[in-house]
Amino acid sequence: MDEATLRSLLEALAATPDNTALRIAVIRELDSKGDPRAASYADRLTPEATGPADRALVAGVLLRTGSASRALAFTEGNQPDVQMMRARVLLAQGDQGGALAAYDAAVKSNPTLEDRDLRHQLLSKVTVHEGQGDGPRLRVVSNDDTDRSELDRLLHPQEPPITFDDVGGLAEIKTAIEKKIILPFQKPALFAKFKKKAGGGILLYGPPGCGKTLLARATAGQVNATFLNVAIEDVLDMYIGESERKLHALFDKARASTPSVMFFDELEALAGKRQHTREGTSSKLVSQFLTEMDGFVKNNSGVLILAASNVPWAIDPAFRRPGRFDRVLFVPPPDKAARASILQILLKGRPIATDIDHGQLAARTSGFSGADLENLVDTAADHAIAASLSKNTEVPIDMAHLSAALGEIKPTTIEWLTTARNYARYSNEGGQYDEVLDFLKKHGKS
Ligand SMILES: Nc1ncnc2c1ncn2[C@@H]1O[C@H](COP(=O)(O)OP(=O)(O)O)[C@@H](O)[C@H]1O
Ligand SMILES: [Mg+2]
Repeated sequence: MDEATLRSLLEALAATPDNTALRIAVIRELDSKGDPRAASYADRLTPEATGPADRALVAGVLLRTGSASRALAFTEGNQPDVQMMRARVLLAQGDQGGALAAYDAAVKSNPTLEDRDLRHQLLSKVTVHEGQGDGPRLRVVSNDDTDRSELDRLLHPQEPPITFDDVGGLAEIKTAIEKKIILPFQKPALFAKFKKKAGGGILLYGPPGCGKTLLARATAGQVNATFLNVAIEDVLDMYIGESERKLHALFDKARASTPSVMFFDELEALAGKRQHTREGTSSKLVSQFLTEMDGFVKNNSGVLILAASNVPWAIDPAFRRPGRFDRVLFVPPPDKAARASILQILLKGRPIATDIDHGQLAARTSGFSGADLENLVDTAADHAIAASLSKNTEVPIDMAHLSAALGEIKPTTIEWLTTARNYARYSNEGGQYDEVLDFLKKHGKS
């Protein structure tokens, strides 16, 4: 709007001061130019006479001139932009709780209004963390409603429990774990009566991203047990003898917090073939590990041992003996039905359009691992977020977003299967890789 038009609007308003529509037009124009007169023109307005579509504008103008209490009167009503303005006004008045409620209500009905800076202002506070035991004392400036117990959790995170329902497909493996691990764990007396030996662990192997770690976590959730996820860096130590001591301490911890599930992810790092390891120390670690596992055969009630590896052929064969990882299960790439159910799990709880066809997507994602599918859904979500921002309203994930994402994500399981085929063909001692050969045969890749 040029100066002349604005001037004629101001003249018209001077002649008809009760023309609210005209007044709003003037305020909007002045405000967009950052002209302080906007506020004085807003003084005459009442909330009742101001239409719902204009209230956020008027409240904003009043708030900027410092009249928060007058601004507040214009923020009644549940339109998202009015609620958002209410949050700002209440924050200016020092009512953080009320402001947060208004902010949440606004974002809930229109997620594109999300404003992280404002949210941080609504939540900032300073918490002092005294530390646990010999832990450090921390002063934490937190931008959310973190309290002390939450700080403990953040500093010592515990992943939320999941169950078999969160793992798509893999029905056979779930049954095997159920039968061989969970049941003896839940009914030890019955198994003892039939002189069935409990103990020993399960080694899951297969291509990366197909659910080995997920399955292990779900097993812990399934039996409501403490989950001890042992990472290599929890054990390996540069000082001689330290790694063995740490490993022993971890087994002790598992025994002390039964029921518990110990999970050794990337087992090959701790239990690699002894002839391949360069230093004597790693070979000592393998021996220590074997001793600990054997100790569990005698005294293992309440502790399940699981492990996973992408390279099972690199693991010391001594770990396969009875009482150790004597049950070795192949976690294959998901088949079509499994992919459909994984997609279902991954899309659950996100805004999705009615045109989503899980079956069709499953058919178009042959060779995709679960992690590839997660990548696919995340990429489609990025597209939907971009569309939401450009349209200023929530646009759900639809087939077009997923198809676009399909053009960007490549399946990753083929490479692993090619390597595994060679091991399965040429070093298949005791038929340990028969499941891989079966899988390849079934999918015409042998
Ligand atoms: N069967 C599955 N069901 C649901 N999600 C899966 C499945 N397999 C893989 N995923 C997804 O891929 C991610 C990586 O899987 P993960 O279990 O870590 O693979 P890995 O076999 O390498 O341990 C998981 O966090 C999950 O989001
Ligand atoms: Mg893993």
